[in-house]
Amino acid sequence: MDLLLIFIVSICIFFGWYYTKFRETLKLAAKLPGPPRLPLIGNALMLAGKSPVQLHNTFTEWASKWPRITCIMLGPQCEVLISDPKLAEVFLSSQKLINKSDEYDFFTAWIGTGLLTSTGRKWFARRKVITPAFHFKILDQFVDIFDKHTDIFIDVLKKSNGKPIDVFQPVTLCALDNICETAMGIDIQAQIKTDSLYVQAVKEITSLLIVRMFTFYLRPDFIYNLSSIKKRQDELIKILHDFTDKVIVNRREELIKSKNNNLDENSNIIDENEDIGAKKKMAFLDVLLHSSIEGKALTNMDIREEVDTFMFEGHDTTSSGIAFCLYNLAKHPEIQQRAYEEAINILGTDSSTPITTTTLNDFNYLEMVIKETLRLYPSVPMFGRKVQEHVQCGPYLIPKGSNVAVSPYFMSRDPTLWEDPLKFDPERFSSDKQQSHPYIYVPFSAGPRNCIGQKFAMLEMKITVAKALKHFEMSVVPGFNPIVMSELILRPENGIRLQLKERKAV
Ligand code: HEM
Repeated sequence: MDLLLIFIVSICIFFGWYYTKFRETLKLAAKLPGPPRLPLIGNALMLAGKSPVQLHNTFTEWASKWPRITCIMLGPQCEVLISDPKLAEVFLSSQKLINKSDEYDFFTAWIGTGLLTSTGRKWFARRKVITPAFHFKILDQFVDIFDKHTDIFIDVLKKSNGKPIDVFQPVTLCALDNICETAMGIDIQAQIKTDSLYVQAVKEITSLLIVRMFTFYLRPDFIYNLSSIKKRQDELIKILHDFTDKVIVNRREELIKSKNNNLDENSNIIDENEDIGAKKKMAFLDVLLHSSIEGKALTNMDIREEVDTFMFEGHDTTSSGIAFCLYNLAKHPEIQQRAYEEAINILGTDSSTPITTTTLNDFNYLEMVIKETLRLYPSVPMFGRKVQEHVQCGPYLIPKGSNVAVSPYFMSRDPTLWEDPLKFDPERFSSDKQQSHPYIYVPFSAGPRNCIGQKFAMLEMKITVAKALKHFEMSVVPGFNPIVMSELILRPENGIRLQLKERKAV
């Protein structure tokens, strides 16, 4: 009897505490549209135990039932999904609402608080220092690197001999080669040495971190730290950090030794050539080694955060974009034919024609195809912000502490925003067409925290797709449809299965 009384009193105390502490959040959240919630747990049970594909489907259903803005409660935690350009503008145009949502915290074990995950003064200073690394003169010299790795990619695809092939895996390895050489200045030959420890670790860590993100009981540190996944995560992170550390140390030593460079009193490496990257080949790492914040050189740890951020953000995104682009071309033979004709006009049929930034600028139709691909299949389907204060968003008041996810994926599929939204139509991006709202198409986000790698990504995607077009007539394996899932990156769960017929003219 006593025990029952203690139990009842404890429950009453808990409810009292819960509703006092979260009263304001719960009151405001109740006014936001969204699926019906249970007391205490909100919508947590509706998501628990679901696979990434099932989660994607659930969010798709909710975003169509409660369009523009959907509020999902995970216990007292308010998660707000935004798929309306006017509401998205509130977050994307703000200089203040730049804090990343809680989901990004899981990635800091690997990428630290680099450009993607940092906020406030740290982010601002880093953004300023890293921006020159994406100067067109630097990007210009990456074209050769992309070209070289794409040639290997084409050779890999040729081995399929017209049999069905899942292109997602080879595309990912090619993108890994590209990002390793451009970010760190080293050729890891991921496409040739597929068993490289570093490459395996990059692939495995991404999957592990995503398992944690989607498994609600693994989210709290005190539970996760006891799990076997955490042990494996630590092993992988050691491999990744040891690798990047070694590359940074070696590169710093090389630069110090180099007679073209000297050090100032703060150990900054001073480049005698003011015009950054104009004469020498520089990886992103070199630009960072030359950089300083408030007169102090970036430490090896600072640089590692940024190099690891590029490794994380700079290859899965472009792989997804390239793979879905090849799929769309394969699915639409008339669009493929037009893109192929453009590629042949620019590159010629001679296999020795080099690709340069100038030739890439001429690929107007291919650019429209890539943009349309990123509309229907944005590599980053949602990106998140944490709100530190209540935020007025159109007619809605979003409670302090909410995680807000802006979704280019759902925005692109909304029939009230796009005519015939599911139709793959590159003409939407022809120069004579105007977009109805500046934030209606945001695959690279927008505003202060937009994608710093946008131009890099477009160059890489153009080269890879142009060369694939030049060498192969692509078709989709009969009956194949990609099963899309949104992890942090949009992926096809069942790969991208194509049939590639080598073109005779090449
Ligand atoms: C198709 C390719 C890509 C897409 C669609 C894409 C998309 C995005 C989006 C939507 C964001 C904003 C994320 C957020 O607010 O949380 C972002 C940020 C970022 N992206 Fe990309 N990205 C791509 C390729 C790349 C590449 C190739 C790199 C590097 C080489 C890169 C580096 C970054 C970095 C460092 C940030 C953080 C910027 C900041 O917060 O200041 N991205 N990207």
